[in-house]
Amino acid sequence: MTHHKIISWLTVLCAFSGVAMTVAEDQPAPAAEQSVQEAQTAQDIEAKPWMDTALGADARAQLVLKEMTMDEKLRLVFGYFGDDLPHKGYTRHPQARPDSAGYVEGVPRLGIPALYQADGGIGVASQPSDKPREHTALPSGIATAATWNPELAFAGGAMIGSEARAAGFNVLLGGSVNLMRDPRNGRNFEYAGEDPYLAGVMVGAQIKGVQSNHVISTLKHFALNDQETGRMVVDVNIGDAAARMSDLLALQLAFEIGNPGSVMCAYNRVNGAYACESDYLLNKVLKRDWGFKGWVMSDWGAVHSTIPAANAGLDQQSGAQFDQSPYFGDALKEAVENGHVSQARFDDMVFRVLRAMFAKGVVDHPIKTSPIDFAAHAAISQADAEEAIVLLKNANKILPLGTALQKLAIIGAHADVGVLSGGGSSQVYPVGGMAVKGVGPKTWPGPMVYYPSSPMKAIQARLPNAQVRFDSGTDIASAVALAEASDFAIVFAQQWMAESIDVPNLSLPDNQDALIDAVAKANPNTIVVLQTGGPVLMPWIEQVAGVLEAWYPGSAGGEAIARILFGEVSPSGRLPATFPAAENQLPRAKIDGDPAKPFQRFTTNYHEGAAVGYKWFDLKSHKPLFPFGYGMSYTDFSYGDLAAQVSDTGQVSVSFTIKNSGVVAGKDVPQIYISAQKDLWEAPKRLVAFQKIALEPGESKTVSLTVDPRLLAVYDSKDKAWKITKGEYQVLLSRSAIEPQASIPLRLPGGVVNLQGK
Ligand code: BGC
Repeated sequence: MTHHKIISWLTVLCAFSGVAMTVAEDQPAPAAEQSVQEAQTAQDIEAKPWMDTALGADARAQLVLKEMTMDEKLRLVFGYFGDDLPHKGYTRHPQARPDSAGYVEGVPRLGIPALYQADGGIGVASQPSDKPREHTALPSGIATAATWNPELAFAGGAMIGSEARAAGFNVLLGGSVNLMRDPRNGRNFEYAGEDPYLAGVMVGAQIKGVQSNHVISTLKHFALNDQETGRMVVDVNIGDAAARMSDLLALQLAFEIGNPGSVMCAYNRVNGAYACESDYLLNKVLKRDWGFKGWVMSDWGAVHSTIPAANAGLDQQSGAQFDQSPYFGDALKEAVENGHVSQARFDDMVFRVLRAMFAKGVVDHPIKTSPIDFAAHAAISQADAEEAIVLLKNANKILPLGTALQKLAIIGAHADVGVLSGGGSSQVYPVGGMAVKGVGPKTWPGPMVYYPSSPMKAIQARLPNAQVRFDSGTDIASAVALAEASDFAIVFAQQWMAESIDVPNLSLPDNQDALIDAVAKANPNTIVVLQTGGPVLMPWIEQVAGVLEAWYPGSAGGEAIARILFGEVSPSGRLPATFPAAENQLPRAKIDGDPAKPFQRFTTNYHEGAAVGYKWFDLKSHKPLFPFGYGMSYTDFSYGDLAAQVSDTGQVSVSFTIKNSGVVAGKDVPQIYISAQKDLWEAPKRLVAFQKIALEPGESKTVSLTVDPRLLAVYDSKDKAWKITKGEYQVLLSRSAIEPQASIPLRLPGGVVNLQGK
């Protein structure tokens, strides 16, 4: 949390009175890593045996730990904020990268580098400043989730990880997978939607991508940090089993797939204890049950004690200047000397940091700043955006646009110059500067940052002879006049979301519903392109001809939107979250807590348990505006031959055929849901498998998918195991949570699998 954050809270106060594969990291370095080893002379290794890359991470960390003094150990568990905090008289640590999130001193005497930390999930972020660092931004986290394509998530992670390394960072505070329990949560755009399986797979792939650069990725926020209102004090009430089948499952899958070096504990409390001093979350779930071997860092301003926090499993205090006290400084030293924190536990804290640094290659591959190929990276971001955009409505196949258009109106959202991004610590500032200046809050989490990728310019480039005109949309009469004088109108509508602020409701702000309604009445050929943090209500849905959900589409978003509009690529995004028809369909009327009193303690009761998103809608028989998994295409897909088997070992696999029965190439996301007998699960059905598939016109493929047994089970807290009930189930091959195309019965023999689903 920055000083900007604190100041902005005041502003906010006044204004309102976010594939399993494990890496064998203990093994000696593979052949490709030998060059590092050769670079070490025999003498180096004799003097510093932990530099021997032939040894595993555990052995190396143990060796160097033995050499460290108390003060050297303390350095590794104490993080500095990477920017000034004038109101606290704090000046950034001189070694921290300017405008960065954090810095942890190394131990140069022993060859242990410092940790340079940058946010975040969509690229190398920057604290707001006169000259913020400029980087490539991926589409928002929820957008990448909407691709349902883990390969793109990996590629995006690899790209932003490489920029982090090139900019001098070896820790990226990205890998954000808080479940969308409420679409009004201000950080949903940073996360990966409402389904634990989809979210875990996508964020796990991104983490893997980041770490392919020898940059440590940080899984966050651990855990149940699902709202911004009162985030520093809210106490989340949820049972162990419900948590493990929802929020914790998303984190667990991302952890198993991505194997992050660090995990960030959250601001909120869980069942009474602060997440950063929760023995349940840190020692029991994360370290004991899941076997996490890296280190737990705190969120910035999330530490409240020395002894309870250290003993509960917190390994490192981050951005210590945000906390009331430097808890992991002298106070920790004293606690260890007095035995309140055992020497063994203290050594474990340090060991975990060291081990991750060895395991992820941070020691063997010192960061070296280098130039970045921004054009190549923009192409990676664009590929992500193109698969993220969801076609929600396409009446009479009004899209794709033809190139014979004569007069086109572009209305709203600064679409003449750029695309929107989400605010807060994950904010990436664009290469070449912001497209619009001075919009949104004057202090953090502002400003509203628009990336200079103009949808209008990209559209005009495809219509060289047409009249393409822009109206800001602020004056409805003027927008209507332009729409009336045009053959076609595209309204860009936006909803800015930002860390620290939940949205008060799901309506588009700034009178945009009225704008869309009026434009649609003036011109039947009206298309709406949404740039939102997540689901919004669409009271005008019947009036408009087409709707695209473009999320926050990242550095090359304008180009991606144009390519979809003109059919250069067929839309293949699918909703990673249910779009409600009304707010009264949600588990709670409003988000608990009072935005005007951010430090007044309160409890939120997750009475919906694990029935999150479409599961809740199913349970309550609510009809959404658009269901989870929904998305249209410019081509047609047909499905057949659905079959399911259970192997001798109980492994469920499902197969089917899919055909592109239309006339253009496209990608589809067939989804497998399994439904259980009434009341057996938290909700009637669960997503258990999916795949993104590219098909040429007329092409068909046979797809076989296996199901993680945990997705068929109910977690048993007492036995600490996942239990599958013997009996009859239904397998659904579906286009979305509510559009089954085929269904077959499945008889499960029942069984018990361990925490890891084995
Ligand atoms: C956010 C984290 C972020 C940290 C450092 C906090 O406010 O919750 O996600 O990594 O700041 O900037």
